[in-house]
Amino acid sequence: MAEVHLSKIVKRYGSLEVVHGIDLEVAHNEFVVLVGPSGCGKSTTLRMIAGLEEISGGELKIGDRVVNSLPPRARNISMVFQSYALYPHMTVRENLGFGLKIAGMTPEDIKPRVDDAAGILGLESFMDRLPANLSGGQRQRVAMGRAIVRHPDVFLFDEPLSNLDAKLRGQMRVEIKKLHQRVKTTVIYVTHDQVEAMTLADRIVIMRDGYVEQVGTPTEVFENPVNTFVAGFIGSPPMNQLDGVVEADGARLEDGTIVPLPADIAPKVSEGQKVVVGFRPDAFAPKGHSLHPEDRSTEISLPVTISEPLGTETIIYTRLGGKEVQAKMLDPHPLEDGETLTFTLDLERLHVFDGETGRSLRA
Ligand SMILES: Nc1ncnc2c1ncn2[C@@H]1O[C@H](COP(=O)(O)OP(=O)(O)O)[C@@H](O)[C@H]1O
Ligand SMILES: [Mg+2]
Repeated sequence: MAEVHLSKIVKRYGSLEVVHGIDLEVAHNEFVVLVGPSGCGKSTTLRMIAGLEEISGGELKIGDRVVNSLPPRARNISMVFQSYALYPHMTVRENLGFGLKIAGMTPEDIKPRVDDAAGILGLESFMDRLPANLSGGQRQRVAMGRAIVRHPDVFLFDEPLSNLDAKLRGQMRVEIKKLHQRVKTTVIYVTHDQVEAMTLADRIVIMRDGYVEQVGTPTEVFENPVNTFVAGFIGSPPMNQLDGVVEADGARLEDGTIVPLPADIAPKVSEGQKVVVGFRPDAFAPKGHSLHPEDRSTEISLPVTISEPLGTETIIYTRLGGKEVQAKMLDPHPLEDGETLTFTLDLERLHVFDGETGRSLRA
């Protein structure tokens, strides 16, 4: 069993604290993704788990063992980085087996493990090639194979797909997901890409400035973001967020539009309170083209700035509350720039955040 427990984990470089007491429980065989903007402390956290960075405070357990002071090789983890760092003069087979060889395993014991990993990753026909003669995706698979052959308790990935082009990244994302189905192991995976996080994770950990902002399943963090940061980070196109002030019949936006507040929110706010009203583009659509039931919506007439036809859906840009907002229309339907449309806003999918703290009034 390899659960990973982080309790009040802190990282300081000299007097500079960059990770501020992180708590996280990763279950046996769970796939957890740490996501957040560049510099938020994802790699530092992962490297502390790996044993590549000293832990400045708190306790790290893998299974039942406190591992704070154990060296990397004693933690039974494997790490895959963004740079594959394959040995250029060794074949794929030699690259896959090298870690086991220097750990003292015999060729007879190494071969079945290497063959097994090659089978899992579809590398069988490349075993005698040198890394220079592989594509980027194949090299990344060899790097993953090197991690697999060690039969670790925990896999750690740090942005393993960032060097690949967009198409290959999409393919490798699916491969990593399949890999986790086949090789059931605890995984902690770092990325700055929220799409990667949403598609791979059992649970997502959203980080900012060395703090954990929210932990939850992809659905939870998408449907119930705890603050404006998570609301803006998860989801593409991003959630529209508009400043407003609470009045008797709803939130007044900067352009005077009144948005009625959901029944569960109304008792939690007082008149004059600053709020941020949030709604995803797919909760906002031209009337007659909505994804949501229109009888629970409010109607707002607005001019189309531009529209982006994307095939199965069209993203419509307009202005509301003094800001540019995006709406989503599902069925292809030609629109004129400047045309005024009646939009329906799904009030059941409205998010309301405190204007001062940014915290969701539902949290
Ligand atoms: N060796 C170091 N010395 C000082 N600061 C560092 C060092 N390594 C990382 N940092 C700082 O720690 C913060 C977190 O970095 P990192 O974990 O690499 O972020 P991420 O992986 O989320 O992009 C950043 O502000 C970075 O500048
Ligand atoms: Mg990083």
